[in-house]
Amino acid sequence: MLASLLRVGDGGLKVTSLMGTVSVGRFKTAHMAALATATAVLYSMWKRWRDRPQGAVFMPGHWLLGNLPEFLQASWRKEQLDFLCEQHRHLGRTLAMKFPFTSWWVVTTRPENVEHILVSNFANYPKGPWWQSKLFDLLGNGIFNADGQAWHQQRKTASRMFTANLFKEHIWVVVRRNARKLRDLLESTKPGQQVDIFNLMNRFTLDTIGEIGFGKCIGSLEDPSSPFLQSFDKAQQIAFQRFVLPVWRPLRWLGIGHERETRKHFQLLDEYSHSVAQDLRKGLSRDTGRAGIAWEDIETRKSFIGLFLQDAKKRGQELSDDYLRDLVLNFLIAGRDTTAQALSWAIYLLCMNPECEAKARREIRDVCGVRGPAYDDMSRLRYVQAVLSETLRLFPSVPLDAKYAQSDDVLPDGTVVPRGTTVFYNLYSMGRDHAIWGEDAEVFRPERWLEMESPPSNYAYPVFNAGPRECLGRRLAIVEMKTCLAMILPELSFRLAIPVDQVMPDAQLTIGMSRGLPCTVVRASEPREVDDLASTASAVGQSGKATSSGSCTSEFAVDEEEDNADSDGQEEEKPC
Ligand code: HEM
Repeated sequence: MLASLLRVGDGGLKVTSLMGTVSVGRFKTAHMAALATATAVLYSMWKRWRDRPQGAVFMPGHWLLGNLPEFLQASWRKEQLDFLCEQHRHLGRTLAMKFPFTSWWVVTTRPENVEHILVSNFANYPKGPWWQSKLFDLLGNGIFNADGQAWHQQRKTASRMFTANLFKEHIWVVVRRNARKLRDLLESTKPGQQVDIFNLMNRFTLDTIGEIGFGKCIGSLEDPSSPFLQSFDKAQQIAFQRFVLPVWRPLRWLGIGHERETRKHFQLLDEYSHSVAQDLRKGLSRDTGRAGIAWEDIETRKSFIGLFLQDAKKRGQELSDDYLRDLVLNFLIAGRDTTAQALSWAIYLLCMNPECEAKARREIRDVCGVRGPAYDDMSRLRYVQAVLSETLRLFPSVPLDAKYAQSDDVLPDGTVVPRGTTVFYNLYSMGRDHAIWGEDAEVFRPERWLEMESPPSNYAYPVFNAGPRECLGRRLAIVEMKTCLAMILPELSFRLAIPVDQVMPDAQLTIGMSRGLPCTVVRASEPREVDDLASTASAVGQSGKATSSGSCTSEFAVDEEEDNADSDGQEEEKPC
């Protein structure tokens, strides 16, 4: 007995002596474990209380689980974004939230806070370990997930990708070719046949970024059955769940729950992106004797990843396979999802607002005539631009973005942010914030963009982010979306094939459509039946008056002097 008491220490001497000699050791060990656990829990609760943000409104929640139960419920119903909107509306514009086993969240919709995080105190707000660990399987050290030197180097090379020449000679031609394919596909649908516009838009943007990014013909518009596409979506859903469920690591290790298929999907993505990288290397190392340059070698050289490879070669460096894999996946996600989502939400909103659709169609016909869209037309499609800006306001492709507070800080609205806090800026709620957009914030009204004296700041409308990490593909995305609408709207119109309340955002990091966008395609000249129009009010909220006024000279217009490319470039006839 003495030996057992000595072994377990002296903390429970009285209890063990009452319990008799046989069970003492086991009982005491259990007690000690319970005591240690209770101490750890109490310590972590005390630490959490000590490190809490101050000056923000605390969202009421469970004493132990914090805001996890309501947030999980809302995510389960795919209503997590509206749930947060409601909380902001009722509690305030800067909220503090807590989840078990993770740092405090501060969630803000104040433009001055956004400016502070993204620009004025940029150095204090990296992506940070909390964000990076969850996305590492998917994004590795790619530009989206990297901080510091690793990010800076990629940013420097990547910012040279969107030169005016590349736009004129290559990017625009690829975009138009794929938009034409998309239009042909839509035109070939039979009357009454349902097509999932969200799926088609994803294929359009995937093929486009495949060609522009890696010189690769992915061909998903022709053949949508690629298992890569399914894994690509699944991997992003898994990554999102990790932000909400704190126990994802053990689940991944055990291969259960939402991490059940993690290995399979990430392995498929790894294999695909490694093979893309290898093809690129081969393309670049192939003999490029003047007479024998293969078309795919030229595409390779002009592609984003090709530029990275050539850049490294000039510096006498060899890029590793893993580095290239990360580049490929980062550009695929950047280039495919965001743009396809914005286009799909735009079509949805036009379905719900036929008078806006008619205005956009009229403008496209006036500007582009019968010849179809040309690069020069892009800056003249001002109403179409307003439709896109308005769509991104209501459905920003990145609805919530977060940074990690590296040291203690105070936000401009007075919120005290302790080191280690995750600071979110809630773009989805900002787009519906009456303080920014006026009483009709929930209404889809593209005209508001044409009435403004000057466009809103990047901090009130950070849909492309702002500051040193502003989106690099902004111009590409705008050209791609305008070309797509200008190609399909003159002749075609869409009717929702499901009830409007079934069109809803997905629980992902970007704002996908959880059930797609099933529509039927009709000729634009076909009259619309009254029943076609599901309740517009339910889609966009109550109407009111905009507070901003004036005229908007399209913030996103393509630079006039860079905008005079020959729209009928020779590449049009090439493969893909
Ligand atoms: C409607 C379309 C798009 C929207 C709304 C959008 C929005 C954004 C946002 C909000 C970020 C910041 C994300 C973060 O905090 O990590 C971002 C970053 C980025 N975007 Fe886009 N994007 C779009 C299209 C594109 C396209 C087509 C590309 C082309 C490849 C692209 C390339 C990038 C890159 C490389 C970054 C990382 C910048 C950095 O961290 O330095 N984006 N984008």
